[in-house]
Amino acid sequence: MGMQKWIMSGLFFAACAFAVVLMFTLPGKEQVAEEEKPTMPVVQLDAASAEATVKASCVSCHGDQLQGGVGPSLQQAGGEHDAEELYSIISKGRGQMPSFKDQLAPEEIANVAMWLAEKK
Ligand code: HEC
Repeated sequence: MGMQKWIMSGLFFAACAFAVVLMFTLPGKEQVAEEEKPTMPVVQLDAASAEATVKASCVSCHGDQLQGGVGPSLQQAGGEHDAEELYSIISKGRGQMPSFKDQLAPEEIANVAMWLAEKK
């Protein structure tokens, strides 16, 4: 076998390896979908305002001590979800829980999410 053939197959394999690397590094459809998750606005935590929002919008289902009722207890919500996840759940709703994105401002939801995230 001539030297040239070895060089050609070497180049061919290098090209294949490069194509495989590209396949795994270019952003896929999944990654694009991830970015459609609601982004939490940056707010300064205001506990008093969070408590007022929760009292008005959440205790009917989650209990006046957040001990649970129609919805699960939220007394340790921060142990299960971080603020971003809480923001997403409250904004979009889940199961029997309604979405709050048309009832509360994004900043109010973010404030409640941060407040709940501290409950561990
Ligand atoms: C109409 C009743 C209702 C109201 C009002 C309501 N929730 Fe819920 N919530 C639920 C139910 C039911 C679930 C369980 C959803 C599921 O996963 O099926 C839930 C789940 C949750 C969860 C996820 C808990 C977990 O353990 O994963 C969070 C966090 C939460 N609610 C926060 C809130 C906040 C904050 C408010 C007020 C802004 C609110 N909820 C208002 C009924 C309600």
